[in-house]
Amino acid sequence: MRVLVTGGTGYIGSHTVVALLERGHEVTIVDNLSNSSSVVLDRVAQITTKSAAMHVADLRDEHALTDVFAATGPEAVIHFAGLKAVSESVAEPLTYYSHNLEATFSLLKVMNERGVRRLVFSSSATVYGGGQEPPYKEEDEPIISTNPYGQTKAMLERVLSDLAASDPSWSIAVLRYFNPIGAHPSGLIGEDPLGVPNNLAPYVAQVAVGRREAVTVFGTDYPTKDGTGERDYIHVCDLAEGHIAALAWALANRGARAWNLGTGLPTTVLDLIRAFEAACGKRIPYHLGPRRPGDLASAWANASRARDELCWQSTRTIEDMARDAWRWQSLNPLGFAPPASLD
Ligand code: NAD
Ligand code: WQD
Repeated sequence: MRVLVTGGTGYIGSHTVVALLERGHEVTIVDNLSNSSSVVLDRVAQITTKSAAMHVADLRDEHALTDVFAATGPEAVIHFAGLKAVSESVAEPLTYYSHNLEATFSLLKVMNERGVRRLVFSSSATVYGGGQEPPYKEEDEPIISTNPYGQTKAMLERVLSDLAASDPSWSIAVLRYFNPIGAHPSGLIGEDPLGVPNNLAPYVAQVAVGRREAVTVFGTDYPTKDGTGERDYIHVCDLAEGHIAALAWALANRGARAWNLGTGLPTTVLDLIRAFEAACGKRIPYHLGPRRPGDLASAWANASRARDELCWQSTRTIEDMARDAWRWQSLNPLGFAPPASLD
């Protein structure tokens, strides 16, 4: 099938492009490279011995997007592109609301005009907002987040559900990711955040490789087994395979439906640090600090809907995630950047 992948050079997008190419799909990427590198394309080709077509364009540019659709004739779209940093979204809400909503509206408009009505959309566990008790189920309400970034996901879920209700020719799979970490086992692609990582796993990986001194553990008095926060970390390759399953659903079904993509297992901050220590064979320096404002004690998925309806479940362990993240980080200490550039 011809699949258009927005944000396809990004972290999750690139792993999904690999999974698509390996299954014989024809892939076109649209990405403005605002948070990714075109080096990804060579790496994807090295892994798969196939290549994806690349169009450097901003989704908000409807004319450019129309040209890409006309040139490549996609039959389905997987939509990753957007801004994703929670703290930045709190500081710059207008940027986040306008960017994420405009980019998706532009895409939906062009899809509608071209009669392409199969979509897989990247949502996030942040739409549960913490008003519920984990494990989160898809039917838990309200779908509303505590930060502007998450609100854009909650709003777009609403838009997509209204769109599917208005026109039965749409098939829309909404995927609520928990905490994606890890990297492709080849060590050729992985997460490469700009500047200081906001998230735990890339921060730990950069400490392990010597780019940063020590991890700060945010909070030690949560009601968890060791007092540190619990999350549902999921291997990015499991997540990529979840998109293949969602695409199959979108081919065979109509309407809009949401699924959690998680393992269903909570892991604490200290557990994750220990898994990285085992993977890299050295101590990871860390110090205990206060809670980070806005953090939840615990968040993990009830993953049974995806298992029952998409026939998808995660297979990789925390040890696999740490091992693959370490391979990527140790082979590419500066990520995709050329060796001279350090932050
Ligand atoms: P990423 O930043 O690595 O990838 C996003 C890609 O989109 C980047 O390559 C960026 O250059 C591109 N992009 C951004 N705005 C664009 C625009 N207007 N036009 C064209 N390209 C644009 O992020 P990721 O971690 O791969 O996340 C992918 C999606 O998954 C995002 O929608 C994100 O909100 C969602 N998500 C991510 C996580 C996570 O922890 N990584 C968790 C839940 C949901
Ligand atoms: C995980 C745990 C921290 C950093 C965020 C977004 C969410 C989603 C995924 C996009 C928590 C602790 C962290 C550090 C630490 N993204 N921590 N020291 O906050 O669960 O989710 O990313 O949709 O929307 O909010 O992930 O990796 O930041 O934190 O102790 O230096 O690690 O307190 O318990 P989070 P995270």
